[in-house]
Amino acid sequence: MHWSLLALAGQTALTLPPAVPAPPQPEPIDILELPLPPVAPSNITGACSASINPHNTGCIGKESDFFQAGDFTPDGKHIALTVEYIGAPAAPNPGNIYNGLQLILVKVDGTTFANGDSWKCLSCGVPAQNARSIDPSRDYPHIARNAKQALWGHNILECSSIPLTSDLCTPELTYIYPIHWPGTKNSPREMRMHPDDIHMGWSSFTTRGQYSYFGRLEFNAVPKNGPLVPRYDLVDVNILVQPDGPAPISVEGPELRIHNEAITIGELRGFSGSGNEIIYLGSTREANNIDLFAVHIITGAIRRLTSHPEYADPIAFSHDDQWFVTMDTRGSDRQMWMSGMRHVPPLIDLVAVTAAASIRNNGARRFFQPILIDRFGDRDAYFGQQVNADGGGNGSINDPNWNGKADPAFSPDGTMIVYWQSLVTEPACGGDNPLPCPESTAQGGRTYRVMLARLSSRTPTNPVPVFAVPDMVPWAMSFGPGDTPPAMHFVSGGNYTLHGKAGGFANVTLVNDELLGIPKTVSVDYTEYSDDGRHYINGYESVTLTVPKESPWSNHLDWVSDIVQTGLVHAVKKTGPGGFHMSINALENIFVANGTLTTTIDGVVYHQPLNYA
Ligand SMILES: *[C@@H]1O[C@H](CO)[C@@H](O)[C@H](O)[C@H]1NC(C)=O
Ligand SMILES: *[C@@H]1O[C@H](CO)[C@@H](O)[C@H](O)[C@H]1NC(C)=O
Ligand SMILES: *[C@@H]1O[C@H](CO)[C@@H](O)[C@H](O)[C@H]1NC(C)=O
Ligand SMILES: *[C@@H]1O[C@H](CO)[C@@H](O)[C@H](O)[C@H]1NC(C)=O
Ligand SMILES: *[C@@H]1O[C@H](CO)[C@@H](O)[C@H](O)[C@H]1NC(C)=O
Repeated sequence: MHWSLLALAGQTALTLPPAVPAPPQPEPIDILELPLPPVAPSNITGACSASINPHNTGCIGKESDFFQAGDFTPDGKHIALTVEYIGAPAAPNPGNIYNGLQLILVKVDGTTFANGDSWKCLSCGVPAQNARSIDPSRDYPHIARNAKQALWGHNILECSSIPLTSDLCTPELTYIYPIHWPGTKNSPREMRMHPDDIHMGWSSFTTRGQYSYFGRLEFNAVPKNGPLVPRYDLVDVNILVQPDGPAPISVEGPELRIHNEAITIGELRGFSGSGNEIIYLGSTREANNIDLFAVHIITGAIRRLTSHPEYADPIAFSHDDQWFVTMDTRGSDRQMWMSGMRHVPPLIDLVAVTAAASIRNNGARRFFQPILIDRFGDRDAYFGQQVNADGGGNGSINDPNWNGKADPAFSPDGTMIVYWQSLVTEPACGGDNPLPCPESTAQGGRTYRVMLARLSSRTPTNPVPVFAVPDMVPWAMSFGPGDTPPAMHFVSGGNYTLHGKAGGFANVTLVNDELLGIPKTVSVDYTEYSDDGRHYINGYESVTLTVPKESPWSNHLDWVSDIVQTGLVHAVKKTGPGGFHMSINALENIFVANGTLTTTIDGVVYHQPLNYA
């Protein structure tokens, strides 16, 4: 585990205010795999035969691009999942309703529903008139705290005020309403429900970049425009931008200033357990090191939750606000070769951040594992605890070929975590790829699985009261129908000095793209630069970004690094002769590079991934 090596090297994650307690000790965790509907051998009609599922309650495929595990029901006894049913018999044969993308509940306590299955479909067989114009997005399934509604992608499913877990909830009583964002052409993505069951957070791409939003669900029985079906509208929408707030990097005369208090919600990832904070991926604080942050909905106060050099992204808080679990590449060394040196200011990220974030995956392959961290986040030598650390061998709970996916979840009483994984498949393995494709050990050769982790030494806790959020976030901006997001501001090209908080300086040259006005080249010359008085940087680093006109998601970087860090550690970040040249598409995540970039920390050398691997 290389992150413990880092810890031993005395690297410091954060400067701590006195209220932060000592980190917790590792705790015992038991893991089991949850049952899913059986796997059918193919998707042809009737392949899900009574011999495969004697209850005629559906089959799923070996692979699924749309499967997703969600979070717990408020009773802590079930989790919600989006499954892709295949091979159903034709109507009117029994089982014909178990077809396509559906929302199901799975029992986590080993018991069964009245039909004898461990699972129950909530959306199967819902009459067409109860599910008009449902939105194709079915991701991030979530059961509301009221137990009577589900957020299912961009839809709300409800069952005539009956709890969704009840046997009384039948298809005839179930309604599925699309969520509509009036007055905008932008598509919402990554929708998350606030624990008050009424407010929502989401992100959206525009030509001006990705912004995040916060709004309220309002039922609209008879809409006058847009889709003319009963639906939930997003109203009182805020764009989560501070109108006069500082930029993360600003110019003051000949100097650059870094503003850690800047609210920079790149992608909204959810809410704290009480809902007092918005959780998000924010501007980097250290070069190439992508982290999670929390911002208080009222005060705008920011907490950095992760600081490990590896990449963190999906996250869930416990309902008592005391813990979170994140999907993180730490331990895989996927990113260490570019982000392993700590306390390097995030200057090159003006051009390198998209590429740095995109390296986290190889195509469909993730390098995530679930990491349990207390509410105060990474600090000192503490970088959390890998939930699935035990095992060994193919198909075991820590088999690195099983990769964590989004989102994990905490049981409401804080004693269980659910997460799901997919097995690496072609072309991320096999063929020319150096990684041979593993055989699945899951039922029917399934390449996805849902795991339940029991924190066996814990006693149940009660959720903290849900935070009463206002419709309008005090530090954000109202975003009404027809509004457009503000233009993103970029630092102008020029020669600047950035002073280390604890000494030294960096001479920085920024060159912006003449046509687009966005940063193109960042060159930094460090002289005894230190932000913490314990790590000192000297040397030179320069990165140039080229975005091909025909492919706006592609990033090509030409990179030269020769920087040395002394003090508490001895670290070197260095490119080989001729520099390092990489191309990556942020939607495809296939790493291709010429040349080398390595980071060495106290003698441990981290190399870039092999191309296409
Ligand atoms: C069924 O499976 C075949 C082969 O895997 C695939 O090409 C086809 O798209 C699938 N059809 C549906 C409706 O999923
Ligand atoms: C594990 O799987 C690999 C293929 O991925 C195979 O070569 C190896 O023999 C398997 N090991 C065991 C112990 O089954
Ligand atoms: C920045 O400094 C370089 C020399 O180090 C000089 O060539 C260049 O003109 C300067 N750029 C600006 C915008 O002042
Ligand atoms: C680098 O910054 C220092 C501190 O501001 C300044 O004294 C020096 O002239 C700068 N060097 C160059 C080459 O601009
Ligand atoms: C690697 O070098 C080759 C030959 O010069 C070039 O065609 C290719 O675009 C380079 N790839 C990257 C990722 O820089």
